[in-house]
This record gives sequence, C-alpha cells and structure tokens, in this order.
Amino acid sequence: MSAPEFPMARAAECPFDPPPQLRAKQEEGPLAKVRLWDGSTPWLVTRYAEQRALLADPRVSADITRPGYPSPAPITDAAPVSFILMDDPEHARLRRMVTAPFTIKRMAALRPAVQQLVDEQIDQLLAGPNPVDLVQAFALPVPSLVICELLGVPYADHDFFQDNSRIIIKRDALPEERAAAGGRLAAYLDELVGQKLARPADDLLSGLAWRVRDGELSRREAARMGVLLLIAGHETTANMIALGTLALLEHPDQLALLRDTDDPAVVASAVEELLRYLHITHNGRRRVALADIEIAGQVIRAGDGLIMANDIGNRDPSVFPDPDRLDLRREARHHVAFGFGVHQCLGQPLARMELQVVYSTLYRRVPSLRLAVDLDQVPFKHDGSVYGVHELLVTW
Ligand code: HEM
Repeated sequence: MSAPEFPMARAAECPFDPPPQLRAKQEEGPLAKVRLWDGSTPWLVTRYAEQRALLADPRVSADITRPGYPSPAPITDAAPVSFILMDDPEHARLRRMVTAPFTIKRMAALRPAVQQLVDEQIDQLLAGPNPVDLVQAFALPVPSLVICELLGVPYADHDFFQDNSRIIIKRDALPEERAAAGGRLAAYLDELVGQKLARPADDLLSGLAWRVRDGELSRREAARMGVLLLIAGHETTANMIALGTLALLEHPDQLALLRDTDDPAVVASAVEELLRYLHITHNGRRRVALADIEIAGQVIRAGDGLIMANDIGNRDPSVFPDPDRLDLRREARHHVAFGFGVHQCLGQPLARMELQVVYSTLYRRVPSLRLAVDLDQVPFKHDGSVYGVHELLVTW
C-alpha cells in the first residue's frame, strides 16, 4: 500500500480532534511511512512513548539543512533560521543567551502586569462593538503586547509583524512569499538591534545587542533570534486563547468549572488539559536520523526523515485514558504540546502564565460570553502550521 499524504485532513464535524486517518495510523502501530509535498516518504511517529524517545535521542537532528530533513515546504536561503532548526552545540549556545528572561521566577514577577493588561483589554472589549471578533479584539493583542514589552519591540508595529508572521506559518504560502516575509521581519529586527546598540534599554533585544557588541553573537544571529521569539511569542498563545475559548464554549460544563473557581491549581491544571486537547502545532516535530536507530521493532536508517505527530501523541489512549474527552480535572501536565527534549518550548513558562491569567479572568468577567455564529460558520485554520481560528465572532 502506498504511503498516505501528510499532513492529513481533519474531519469537518469534529474541529478539535486530530484527523481520523492519523488516528487509524496510531491504532496500527507507532511508526508509519507518509508522503510529503515533495514526494519524500519520512516516518510518521504516532505514539507518545516513541515520540518522546526520539525527541530525546541525540542521534536525531533538527537541522533543516541536512539531507533527508522532512521540510514542510521548500527551503529558501532567505528564510530566517534560528536555533529551533539547529543542533547542539550551536543550538545550546544560542538558546542559553535567552533562557533567563523566560524562567518561572521571572514569569511570576511579570504576572501582575499581565493581569492588569488582560483586565484593560477586557475593559476595552466590553466598551467596544458587540458582537466582536475575539481574535482581533483580544486573543492577538494580549500575547503581542506582552512579547513586545519583553523584547523591546514597538507594539505600534503589530500589523506589520502579525501579517508577516501569518505568511511564514501559512502552509501553502509560495516559497518566494514566505522568503519575502521572513526577509522583511529579519530586516525589521536587524534595524531594532541597531537601535538598541545605540540606545540600550531594559529589554531582551538590548541584551542581545550587548552580546553583539561584545563579539559573542553576530548581528544577523541576533536579528534571527528576535524573529523567532517575536513569531513564537504571539502566534501560538493567541491561537490557544481563541481556540481554547471556542472549545470551552462548546463544553459549557467545563467552562463552568473554570469560571466558578478561584483556586490557581484548578486553573493551572485546566490550562494543561487545554494544551493537551487542542495541541495547536499541527505540522509535527520534524527531524532527521543521524544514525541507524532501532525502535518499536523497526530500524530507522541514517538520513531518514521523522515527523513526531504530537497532536495524536497527546491523544494516545495508553497515556491519557478516554483521550478525546476534554476533562479539565485530569492530570495532563506530561502532555507533549510544548514538544520534548532539548528543543522543548523555551517560552512555556510565559505561555502558561498568560493562559492562566486569561482563562481565569475572561469568563468570570464576561459570564454571558457566547458564540455569535453557529460552529459551522467558524473559519478554522486548516491552512497553517499553527491551528486555531481566523475569526471568532462572540457576543455577551
Ligand atoms: C501555547 C503556546 C505555545 C505552544 C503550544 C508552543 C509550542 C512549541 C513547541 C511544540 C516547540 C518545540 C519545537 C520543536 O521541537 O521542533 C516550541 C519551541 C519553541 N518555542 Fe514555543 N510554544 C508556545 C509559546 C511560546 C512562547 C510564548 C514563546 C516565547 C518566546 C515560545 C518560544 C519558543 C522557542 C524560542 C522555541 C524553540 C526552542 C528550541 O529550539 O530550543 N513559545 N514551542
């Protein structure tokens, strides 16, 4: 039988569930061959245990320039690549430079400011038009404002960086479109690093500018790191806010649990379950084997591409019983929504904190929040590497 195409289509009637074909593959076994846009046939890894084992294996590379890497789209030189697509020691050298601003301790210190920001955004939402698109009016501004503040990027430029980020993560963008968007963002961040070199402030980009001045980092590397942090820092969380809200509106008993509690532990566990259940990064973790690897009775050959489909990994029934049920009370923190291994999400303490503040505030302050259209009218992002909704019309 020939290998099925990847990515696979979701069934329209269950927008929160992984594609039925992906589930069928998981039932057949932990590894299967799939076919990509370029005709290549990497391994698709569908079960949680094998995904974690391979993501933690030093014989597995995230370097997009290696032959056999299962790229989701044609690779162009102009696309700005940072440490997410590099191996150690280069990856570790660059990642270490930006870990301090994202520690759990720093996030705890930032929490009151994020709470205030979320409250202000809700004030504006309530004072504005009703119905409104929650994506534009709330879900995108909150994480964008936060990451701009942390990086030292002017929020006034949000249309520019949000539009270009959207092109980069759009699955069917033309290679030249994606390269042009990447080039524009890299030039923008390079300009900002230049400004921070001249007038340093108390922000992450100024920290990178100091390192450029000290010769630890090239200006190009600094700009590319800035692009990675800016895109990763707003797009993902924004989709979790909008899609999470939609999932909760469709599960009113679960929404009530969240709305009626003031226990931070209940909120924290709800965030983990929503991350597990929605798993918004749909392209899988892409890797290439550097050596022969024996796993689950198969031999993955050196040079074989690997795609860890973490969305179905988070629905592995041997790890999460009754996996298709959204159950905010379940213990879900060991999900793989932030990946696993050395590339595990750097921004997860920030994402968790933002989502905890948002989910514990929005539905309490707007208890009558509801969809202003039918579910089948909601435009889902089937065309991007980050899943979510293009627009969410809500009323209250
Ligand atoms: C709910 C929100 C988020 C989700 C679901 C998410 C998901 C992920 C995943 C799955 C990876 C692993 C990529 C891989 O292994 O190939 C990753 C890496 C990364 N994420 Fe996030 N992320 C989120 C929020 C953030 C935020 C707020 C930031 C802030 C800057 C961020 C920055 C990064 C960076 C820099 C990496 C690369 C880490 C490395 O390669 O060492 N993410 N993220």
